[in-house]
Amino acid sequence: MQILTTAAGLQAYTEQARRAGKRVGLVPTMGALHAGHLQLVQAARADCDEVIASLFVNPTQFNNAEDFRLYPRLPEADAALLAPAGCTALFVPSVPEMYPQPTVLRFDFGALEQVMEGAHRPGHFNGVATVVSKLFHLARPHRAYFGQKDWQQVAVIRQLVADLSFDLEIVACPTIREADGLAMSSRNLRLGADARAAAPLLHQVLEAAAEHVRQGVLPAQVRADAERTLAHEPLVTPEYFEVADAQTLQPLEKYVTGRAVVLCLAAHLGGVRLIDNVMVGAGA
Ligand code: PAF
Repeated sequence: MQILTTAAGLQAYTEQARRAGKRVGLVPTMGALHAGHLQLVQAARADCDEVIASLFVNPTQFNNAEDFRLYPRLPEADAALLAPAGCTALFVPSVPEMYPQPTVLRFDFGALEQVMEGAHRPGHFNGVATVVSKLFHLARPHRAYFGQKDWQQVAVIRQLVADLSFDLEIVACPTIREADGLAMSSRNLRLGADARAAAPLLHQVLEAAAEHVRQGVLPAQVRADAERTLAHEPLVTPEYFEVADAQTLQPLEKYVTGRAVVLCLAAHLGGVRLIDNVMVGAGA
């Protein structure tokens, strides 16, 4: 596995691969890798000749300086996991390499980002769109792989690709869970023992809500029940629970036949912010 640290090095690497007729897959990450990330690398390996993983804790997508400071950073352990999973090149840039000058361009994804993560983390999707655009320009992948745990991020990136005509395909891979249902996340490493013990509640609440959606319980009632259950656990501070259209991400007042529903939540456990979601209907 080749280690690349400069933008020019990454460009040269993929330019050569493309000239040789190879298909290039890109797996953008912020490191502290878990089985969810490795699944993305394996999916890319199955589709592509070259698999480039990027490892960059992107400062511009954190609206909370403490969250950025405490984000787990384990570059050596990450590198050791990537090669056996099928990664052929690892891009690990410094902050000045990715941002040689402050960015002034601002993205506006309209209604897509006025809900959930976008509403609760001002500027977050601007930072995501900025760094993902840079990675797409530098790596010029045929395909880029993202996890469905960040469902709204996937929707925003699909919009970015459509609006800016990036010549690539987005592949979204399912959320990987621990045996007790907790969605794998780099932030799980920061959970204390008590918070970790309480954390499976998030998925339990989502699954119970999904069952209610299948039974036709109206979204307002589903929301209220989920919020009440979450509020009942003293170690959990819910931030939002939403019943939304899976494509537009807009909150629902009633269900529309043939359209998938996504249930999304964010909650704080012992100072760690976690998100999760499940999909209901239309092939989910
Ligand atoms: O999902 C993430 O880890 C990040 O938001 C991403 C896509 C790597 C951009 O920094």
